[in-house]
This record gives sequence, structure tokens and C-alpha cells, in this order.
Amino acid sequence: MSQSQETLSNLLQETRRFAPPADLAESANVKADAYEEAAADRLGFWARQAERLSWSKPWDQVLDWSNPPFAKWFVGGELNVAHNCVDRHVEAGNGDKVAYHWEGEPGDTRTLTYADLRREVSKAANALLELGVRKGDRVAIYLPMIPELPISMLACARIGATHSVVFGGFSADALRTRIDDAQAKIVITSDGGYRRGKPSALKATVDEAVDGAPSIEHVLVVRRTGEEVAAHERDVWWHDVVERQSEEHTPEPVDAEHPLYILYTSGTTGKPKGILHTTGGYLTQTAYTHHAVFDLKPETDVYWCSADIGWVTGHSYIVYGPLANGATSVLYEGTPDTPHKGRWWEIIAKYGVSLFYTAPTAIRTFMKWGDDIPAAHDLSSLRVIGSVGEPINPEAYVWYREHIGAGGAPVVDTWWQTETGSIMISPLPGVTEGKPGAAMRPLPGIVADVVDDRGEPVPNGGGGFLVVKEPWPSMLRTIWGDDEGYVKTYWSRFEGLYFAGDGAKKDEDGDLWLLGRVDDVMLVSGHNISTTEVESALVSHPKVAEAAVVGATDPVTGQAIVSFVIPRGSAGGDVEGEEFLKELRDHVAKTLGPIAKPRQIMIVPELPKTRSGKIMRRLLRDVAENRSIGDVSTLADGTVMDLISEKLPSAK
Ligand code: WT7
Repeated sequence: MSQSQETLSNLLQETRRFAPPADLAESANVKADAYEEAAADRLGFWARQAERLSWSKPWDQVLDWSNPPFAKWFVGGELNVAHNCVDRHVEAGNGDKVAYHWEGEPGDTRTLTYADLRREVSKAANALLELGVRKGDRVAIYLPMIPELPISMLACARIGATHSVVFGGFSADALRTRIDDAQAKIVITSDGGYRRGKPSALKATVDEAVDGAPSIEHVLVVRRTGEEVAAHERDVWWHDVVERQSEEHTPEPVDAEHPLYILYTSGTTGKPKGILHTTGGYLTQTAYTHHAVFDLKPETDVYWCSADIGWVTGHSYIVYGPLANGATSVLYEGTPDTPHKGRWWEIIAKYGVSLFYTAPTAIRTFMKWGDDIPAAHDLSSLRVIGSVGEPINPEAYVWYREHIGAGGAPVVDTWWQTETGSIMISPLPGVTEGKPGAAMRPLPGIVADVVDDRGEPVPNGGGGFLVVKEPWPSMLRTIWGDDEGYVKTYWSRFEGLYFAGDGAKKDEDGDLWLLGRVDDVMLVSGHNISTTEVESALVSHPKVAEAAVVGATDPVTGQAIVSFVIPRGSAGGDVEGEEFLKELRDHVAKTLGPIAKPRQIMIVPELPKTRSGKIMRRLLRDVAENRSIGDVSTLADGTVMDLISEKLPSAK
């Protein structure tokens, strides 16, 4: 074992393990035998999962992998996603069951049962047809978190149109690029939505984007805020066109490989890629993983995923997986701190949410705001709590379990990507003894591993690159219009293996720890050190709420570790002075070893993040290397870098 592996393994020796609660283990949807079942016959296993869905024509072949890496799942099968997510639940007598408890940011609410959803989706599908949208056409959707968003997606699926949802925080340029790339025929938007207590406009951005997007024939506008919007000839109001449609529409069965949606990956670098997902395999794996990882009991659970539908998490775990399973979900429009910092916990108490899914960035924000805020709400309904989007630091994991999960709800740390479509690596809440910070094992039916730079599996205790070794049902099928880019980006680094772009380690038990994007690994005096590990070490200090770490060029060590730290709200004392900075450096040295000791720590009020909550280390590297700060246009909050620059002269 090299020195860096030895020193860095300290963090992995986090010894606390959390066994599933006995009653959950007893009644779990998925038990340990699923791993053996899937290992014995992977394709047979996925065929059984596909039987959760209703097919209008059965498939002839589970997987066609004769032309890798271009996969076809459930070859010859036909089904309709909207029928599976909506109609069949109504037909089974569950029309009165709530599909969504929608909560607007200002406090207005709307309840949609499965019967309501069938009616609304049918009307929207008829409206799309009237507007000239046909099977195979692309529809751009640029909406806030209002019921018309999932309704629009399902209406597309119902008629076989392919949707491309663009997150409502993106600029006109970003929207236009995505509309152009997909050659979308119409865009569905709204006058605006509510954010931080105020109406925030959307339509003006669409007008600007569409002025340079000749493929668009109509803009379909939902009225949400009632604010004035400019009128164009191409505009049609939702309440004019959709409301007068027939409530009857027969969903059109499509081929299992029919394109369901395109979703552009934001990424922190490079041109956005249109990730293409298709129908049968995608719905099979989103439904199965939602059932397995969240242990959904559709009769009794209330499920809430706090993501925005504009990201893949929302596509798979607010819309498709939960609806395919007939779940009752919460859908929330706004921000966590409007009108107060306990809003999320108030929503959980109000609806009795039992299954909750959020991101580490949110968890760390709540840690920063203080323990007393969740403590003021009744969160006892929660029984499984999930995390997604980046590695969850052991400290944040334990806080989440203690303060949100009432000290007992299992945390499921779920690793996946826009490209994988569904969860790939995660504990099973009724089976796995969870370790804080570890995503643990590939789910049944998924074959993933950690390999070295020659593509050879590393032994337990080793680190390298995360790869997927066998095709999976919800895998991306290509990059829209760019088969070559698909092969090059994902399938060329290692022969026959899917390259995820993430670093990972296998601990002594063979459990997996995700270490962030491979571009985020630092090389300090010849040792590979991951930014995630140093960040976790910093966050494990009681006075630290959040930390970001970058490698800055250093004449002596090649790269040096530079950290940016936000102290906890409750920290007290001097959290600016040299003494505190020394305390933090020593704490990292003690946790990870002297090699990981940051050269420099800067105390900052905020961290630069993309709209999906990923830290933009590129900008922090600019600060660390004393360069002028690069393009900030994809920041969630454009003022953060000003705050940081203002702050730094005094922080050294
Ligand atoms: C990247 C994918 C998947 C939905 C949201 C993000 C990172 C995601 C984890 C996790 C460690 C994680 C990876 C991955 N990531 N989940 N549980 N532990 N890292 O989708 O925007 O496509 O990002 O997010 O780096 O490659 P995305």
C-alpha cells in the first residue's frame, strides 16, 4: 500500500455502521436474495422487472447487444409510458388515489388524483395534437415546478412526442441552444413562477430564445403568476387551448426503443450533451429502483423528492418511477427558506411524508442553518431518506440520519447520472448495513466495478475509476445527433466498459465509495488525493458547515490543496483568525494524514455552485491561482464570486 493510500484510508475507517431497523428488514420490498437472483440470470431478472409494467405487445428479446455500445432493450415490445403512469392505475380502481400533493411557494395548493391526472394529461395530449405535434416530434418544456410540468411530459409521452425539459433557471441562450439542437417544434412555458416570495418571469426569456429558433411553431403559455407578458403571434394560452379539449384520449403504444426524452447534461465544463432515453428499459429500471431503494409501499407511503424536474432526478424520481409505481408524492414549487427556513420540514409534517430524497448540498445548508430548525417540526413519519448528486460526507450523512431521520431512518446514498437514467449503486434499506459516506453496492441487475488505468479491477482497499460492465435497461442510448460523441465519451476509455468519469474506492469489505469526478483529483507531491476526501475531513470539524477544495499549481508540490470553508451558524468564537485556520489544518492532518493538509484555507460566506448544486471548482481554482475569474454565467447565484472576492483580502 502506498503512503497516500495508507494515510487516506483513515477516513474510510469510519467504523459506524447502521443496520436496517428490524421491522423494515422484515417487510422490505427487496431482500438479500435479489442479488443472487440477478447474478444467476441478469436478463431474466430484468425481464421479471419489466413485467411490473403493462405492455400492449410483448417483447421478443430482452436485450440486443449485437452492436455495442448501442443497446436495444425489450426488442419488439410496445407500450405507452402515460398509460403505465396514469391510466392503468385508474383502470385498477385507484382513480381517487392522490398522485401529487402540489404545494405552491406562496402556500396555494392543488391535489391531483390519478383520475385528475388522466383527465389533464388527455386534454394536454389533444391540445398538442391540435397544435400540430406528432409522434417523434420534439417538444421543449421550460416550466416552473407546477402541475403542468409533469402533465406536459406525460402528454408528450402519450402521443409519442419526445420532450426536452430545460431547467427554468437557464438563460435565453442556453434555452435556444437546446431548442436548436433538438429542433423542437413547440415550447411549453408559463408567464413565470414563484421564487423567494416573488413572481419570477419566464416568458420573456422564452421570447428572446425563440426569436432565434426557427424550428419553433408555437409557444404554449401557462398562466401561473398573472404578470403581464408580451404577446406574439406564435403564442397560445394553455387555458384557451388545453381547457376546451376532450377529456378522452387513447394513449398510443410505441416501440420499447422509442425516444421518450432528451435531457441536456449541464456539466461544469464543455458543450451540453443531449442525453437520449427511450421507453421500455427506462421505465422498467426507474420503477424497479424506486420500489427497491425507497421500499415504496404505494398504499401507505407519501414520497417527496425535493429536486427540480428540470434535472434527471426529477424526471426519474418525481415523474416516471413514482407514477409507474402508483405512488402518492409531494410536488413543491419553491425554495427551502421561503417564507422561513423550516418550510421543508413543515411540508413533511403537513403531508406525513415517509420517504424523502434530497441532495448533500441541501443537507449541508440545513446543518449550517442549525439543528433547532428541523427540531421544531414533527418529522417522525420519515422512514427512508435518500441522497443524490454528489458524495455525501460522513458528517452530513450522520447529521441527516440524526436530525431529519429522527435518529433511525436509513440513509440511502444513491449514485447515478443523467446518463444512467436510474439509480445504479445504493444501499437497499431493508438489507444493507449502511456506512456513512459510502454508496455501498451496485443494485441487483447492475454490474459495476472500480478499475485501474489499464481497466483491470482493483483489489479491495484500492482506488481507481468507476465503470459499468454490462448494459442496463435505463442506460442512455446515445447523445442526440452524435453517435460518435457517445462512443468516444463513454465507451472508449476502457475497451467494452462504460466509463462514468467518477473516481471511486473499494474498501476492505468491497463496498464502494464515490470520490467525485476524476477531474477533481489532485496530485500533491506525487500522491492522488481526492477533493471529496479533504472536503469530508473539513466538514467533520464541528465548526465547519461546508467546504470546497481545489488543487492549485504549486512550484514545490506540483499541486497544493486550497480550501474554502463556510463556518457553521452556531460556531461562535473567532472563526476568522489564524488560530482557527491552524486548528482546521491540523484537523485535516489528523483525519487524513499530513499529506492532505491544506496549504491554505479561506473563510468564505458562500460557495459558487451550478444550478444543480455542484460546486464550480474551476472558479475557485481561479481564485486560488490568483487569476481573474472565468465565466460565471452558469452559476446559480451570479453574485457569489463578488462576495468571495470582497471577503478574501482579509482572509489571506
Ligand atoms: C454525477 C452525475 C444522478 C442525479 C443527479 C446528478 C455525481 C451523483 C452521487 C452520489 C457521489 C454522485 C457523480 C456523477 N453523483 N450521485 N450518490 N455519490 N457522487 O446527475 O448531473 O448527471 O451528475 O453526479 O459525479 O457522475 P448528473
